[in-house]
Amino acid sequence: MSLGLHEIVENTRGKNLFFSTDIDQNIQDADVIFISVNTPTKDYGSGAGQAADLRFVESCARRIAEAGGGDKVVVEKSTVPVRTAQMVNEVLKGANNGFNYQVVSNPEFLAEGTAMVDLESPDRVLIGGEKTDTGNAAVKKVASIYANWVEDDRIITTNLWSSELSKLTANAFLAQRISSINAISALCEETEADVDEVAKAIGMDTRIGPKFLKSSIGFGGSCFQKDILNLTYLCRHFGLPEVAGYWQQVISMNEYQKERFVQRMLDAMHNTISGKQIAILGFAFKKDTNDARESPAISICKRLLEEKGSLKIYDPQVSKESILSCLDISDESVLARLTFSESAEQACSSAHAIAILTEWDEFKELDYKKILDTMYRPAHIFDGRNLLVLEKLRELGYRAFGIGKA
Ligand code: UGA
Repeated sequence: MSLGLHEIVENTRGKNLFFSTDIDQNIQDADVIFISVNTPTKDYGSGAGQAADLRFVESCARRIAEAGGGDKVVVEKSTVPVRTAQMVNEVLKGANNGFNYQVVSNPEFLAEGTAMVDLESPDRVLIGGEKTDTGNAAVKKVASIYANWVEDDRIITTNLWSSELSKLTANAFLAQRISSINAISALCEETEADVDEVAKAIGMDTRIGPKFLKSSIGFGGSCFQKDILNLTYLCRHFGLPEVAGYWQQVISMNEYQKERFVQRMLDAMHNTISGKQIAILGFAFKKDTNDARESPAISICKRLLEEKGSLKIYDPQVSKESILSCLDISDESVLARLTFSESAEQACSSAHAIAILTEWDEFKELDYKKILDTMYRPAHIFDGRNLLVLEKLRELGYRAFGIGKA
């Protein structure tokens, strides 16, 4: 079993891993510099709400050029729009400081919660560079770092632009699979098909494969939506509105899935949740992380509050402060309908309904029989992650609903 990030940092800090705030000195000393800063969706000016905000990447490039210290390979690790390397190159070369810089694209494919495993045994490492002698040498230099633990045939090299675009495309394809299976989940609910059975059946076709076919309340996280918005922005920029519309639909389906979940809750509860208590189990965008950025729980909770429901939220890792900041509610009368619990059992006590919004393992192990005794009747459970066996819950006396299940 590989070690987690915490243990790795503990084992290597002060040996071959150092943290420093002396930026210029470290730039001067380095042969290879990885730019790994945030590239959020721009929230101002031209391209707001779609384009990537590249100001942090640009300021890294400026600082590298200002600090000098010799020739360097500058690696784009951040997720960036295709052709960003051109901007980094222009900034570095524009400094005219007599040093040579080679920009290399090396996008990151690890996922939150499994970062060290993904890093240790990646499906592939992608390195893109300029197709010149110095460009090839820079790519080789970066590849040699990974060659310490990754097999050669998993390290692939491309030109700069293919590498940059591959990152956005990988995330768009992954998100597209989720939107596709979620679209089918809506049809399953109407036809008595079971989305998990459909996913299993299609996933055994080796051309389709079994991964990323878990129907849910929708994808979240800091990457998928941001990267697809970025992709659609690029397509429009390059005069390809049909391509932009195609990928935009992946996001629209994701929005629809979240709203559909809320609508199903309302339908099941006589079209009103005003004055009713709803236990929210899980707020993180997926299990094993305390990250709630773009979590589907955000819009679902906001909608439930809009419908005048009272929410009791429990998440094993996301803090109350983080949840409040994600929900961003200033109206005191709405905030009064929001409470936080220390355990799942506490959140469910005196509730009319339970909504499971993150697939935390501990929610599979709860004593739902005991929990039912503490709830109002009829007790509803809405499993937004298809974590539980609905038949068993129904036998206990719940009115139980999953995603893509009749
Ligand atoms: C994603 C990609 O999986 C990584 O390869 C990529 O490096 C990363 O973005 C990034 O660009 O930095 P991450 O967002 O951490 O990683 O998490 P995922 O495991 O991809 O999950 C994303 C969302 O999709 C979660 O909300 C998850 O619950 C949802 N999901 C995932 C489903 O609803 N169904 C699935 O079958 C899989």
